Amino acid sequence: MGFRLTMGHVLIQNLHKQFIERRAARRRVNSDPDVQRGERFAVLTDINLEFTDGELVCILGPSGCGKTTLVRIVAGFETPTSGRVLTDGREVSGPRADTIFVFQHSGLLPWMTVSENVMLGVRDMKDKQKMAEKIQEYIDIVDLTGFEDIYPHQLSGGMQRRAELARALVVNPEILIMDEPFAGLDFLTRLKMREEVINMHELIRKTIIFITHDIDEALVMADRVVVMSDRPASVKTDIELDFPHPRDFARNPDLENLRRQVYTELGVHYAL
Ligand SMILES: Nc1ncnc2c1ncn2[C@@H]1O[C@H](COP(=O)(O)OP(=O)(O)O)[C@@H](O)[C@H]1O
Ligand SMILES: [Mg+2]
Repeated sequence: MGFRLTMGHVLIQNLHKQFIERRAARRRVNSDPDVQRGERFAVLTDINLEFTDGELVCILGPSGCGKTTLVRIVAGFETPTSGRVLTDGREVSGPRADTIFVFQHSGLLPWMTVSENVMLGVRDMKDKQKMAEKIQEYIDIVDLTGFEDIYPHQLSGGMQRRAELARALVVNPEILIMDEPFAGLDFLTRLKMREEVINMHELIRKTIIFITHDIDEALVMADRVVVMSDRPASVKTDIELDFPHPRDFARNPDLENLRRQVYTELGVHYAL
């Protein structure tokens, strides 16, 4: 094989997704005029996006607009109603080893240590020496050196997320999907985790699709911010961010203006 220059390339074309209304959700959405009982309802309408290899994309949008659905389709867990997604030039038809999804809630196995959990990603490697080196390499990348033999319950929330990140990275995916990975972490830990992700991205340079509803988080981290509308979600804005890290709103008027713009787009008329 020759060089493949578009490994982490993602192309989303004319994507639409409808769901049949869920029983459990019925009572909640009953008052919603465009949702009728047991009917089909649109979650995503005409999404067209292209992410280049190695880009760190943040997807921002109101809760319930369809962000998780969108990335589940990219990961191959869910099929589109119409339209298609291509990764590396091939149409997505199911889950693939080159696209790894880091879930909203901790997926560490509680009876395994940090390094055993990370090993899950590379357990098929024949060369055990190489495998051990790989495990250590990614534990180091997420700053968990020294915590290899610790069990998940002994780790703080932030450290648990980092261990999960190591387990995802060790697989060496071309595309890493992180769906609100910092939900439930305290504010300070969240700030530190943002930095971890930025540093990790600098090191590995893989495509990262990061979902958040935190505007500042997106603007501080991303190469690219995609703002989604309310459900049914369409792309409202797609912004390239060419600001160096670390980013400081107070010191960068252009970034601050962008921030105000995004707040307004999401229906808040002033940035706090
Ligand atoms: N499998 C499903 N069946 C029916 N409705 C679903 C399903 N998955 C998600 N939904 C609904 O689709 C909408 C968008 O959900 P989701 O993509 O999780 O939003 P977000 O991640 O932006 O909060 C919600 O109203 C949710 O209840
Ligand atoms: Mg979600």
